[in-house]
Amino acid sequence: MEEVGKIVSSSTSSFTFSASREVKKFDYVCVEHNGLALAQIKEVKQDRHGTIGEAEIIGYENRKYMARSPFKVGSTVYKASYDAIKKIIGMEDDGIYIGLLKDTNMKVFLSPESIIKRHLCILAKSGSGKSYVMGVIVEEMIKKGLPVVIIDAHGEYTSLRHPNLDKQEFKAMKKFGVKPRSYIKNVVEFSPLIARNKNAVPLFLDELNMEFDEILQLVPKATPLQRGILYEAYKIAKEEKRVYKLEDIIEIVRQAKSNAKWNLLPQLEQIYATKIFSPNYTPIEEIVKKKRCSIINLKGTPPHIQEILVAQLLNRIFEERRKENIPPLLIVIEEAHRYCPERGEGKSMAGDIIKTIATEGRKFGVGLAIITQRPARVDKNVISQCNTHIILRTTNPNDLKAVISSVEGLTSSAASEIQRLPVGTAIIAGLPLQAPIFVEVRVRETMHGGK
Ligand SMILES: Nc1ncnc2c1ncn2[C@@H]1O[C@H](COP(=O)(O)OP(=O)(O)OP(=O)(O)O)[C@@H](O)[C@H]1O
Ligand SMILES: [Mg+2]
Repeated sequence: MEEVGKIVSSSTSSFTFSASREVKKFDYVCVEHNGLALAQIKEVKQDRHGTIGEAEIIGYENRKYMARSPFKVGSTVYKASYDAIKKIIGMEDDGIYIGLLKDTNMKVFLSPESIIKRHLCILAKSGSGKSYVMGVIVEEMIKKGLPVVIIDAHGEYTSLRHPNLDKQEFKAMKKFGVKPRSYIKNVVEFSPLIARNKNAVPLFLDELNMEFDEILQLVPKATPLQRGILYEAYKIAKEEKRVYKLEDIIEIVRQAKSNAKWNLLPQLEQIYATKIFSPNYTPIEEIVKKKRCSIINLKGTPPHIQEILVAQLLNRIFEERRKENIPPLLIVIEEAHRYCPERGEGKSMAGDIIKTIATEGRKFGVGLAIITQRPARVDKNVISQCNTHIILRTTNPNDLKAVISSVEGLTSSAASEIQRLPVGTAIIAGLPLQAPIFVEVRVRETMHGGK
């Protein structure tokens, strides 16, 4: 091991050392202390006596150990070997290749099983690289043949079909060991508006024999009286017909005696007119399939229709997965603050099913990737269920607070770094990692669509 200095003062969780070699912020160092103790340099200072490094303890070779007396002054500080870093931090050997541990050429992998079973969130301000890193993860999921469904409000993921030909990124490709690639065979774009999204397959929801809660989702702000009318219509349709359509429900509502129907009818008719429901609906088995990445392109779709669509689609996916009619999958929710807002920002139908998946998804193999530039405005219950956190630059004080409180084990120095992260550098935290790590996100194989 290469010596980098000697400890000059210490506590049980940190030490400062006089450096005998060049050391940099974020470098990993270790000392012998009941086996090896791994620490990360959080600050480097210089005075006329030389360079002083300040390091925070991350973990011990012996996992069960906890220091209860300070590190000995005069102990030798070494540069940590890749093996020691990997072992003590608990980094994976294989899986989703996300980038390089900052300032090293150690590849960082995430476990796809853990992402599907225990969810992921990407939190950061606008333009900091959230969609870019999600694109990296999707590329890797496709390579592993794992199904992905992306709720894509802006249609920016359709570029996964095209190789990355950005000349500025070619040089970085060599560093990360990445080549331009297209996933045209795996990526299918679905859209309720094919007139606007020309390469998309039309997306239709199943309108046959809708259950009462599905009908209710169409009118999220229904009054108790209106709910009553809807329930009656549902019961009549069910009794009278073996197969009933949304049209039949609307017809029964039209004939209802209560005057409360006059506010309800136009809402139902408007939804019917958007033609998002059809007896020739898109089978969920077509949307969720091994080796397939389905993009639900909602570009141009009005927000209240998006809400209905996302709620119904996620409900059906969850149902089909519970019945094991489809394989385990990852659902990516971009702009999550729109679909699962913090309580008090209005009731959200999509929010209810997202919350259910967040809490129960692990039992059934339905993983969530929650992406938002407004962490403070997303339902805390959803964020708290995410095991893996990818944090990029965040500056808004409220959002910063939300990020810091949601990430376990974030040291105070790492927390203050979040405001200074350069584009392309992420902090990743979550089991099995013993401590958050700084990662240079790898360059994309496919074109990034969020420009
Ligand atoms: N890892 C990276 N390597 C190289 N360039 C990157 C990386 N991450 C982001 N960028 C650059 O930063 C730009 C913004 O990234 P991106 O679109 O992912 O931001 P975002 O966080 O999703 O923003 P928004 O909240 O507005 O959707 C990209 O167009 C890309 O050029
Ligand atoms: Mg984005």
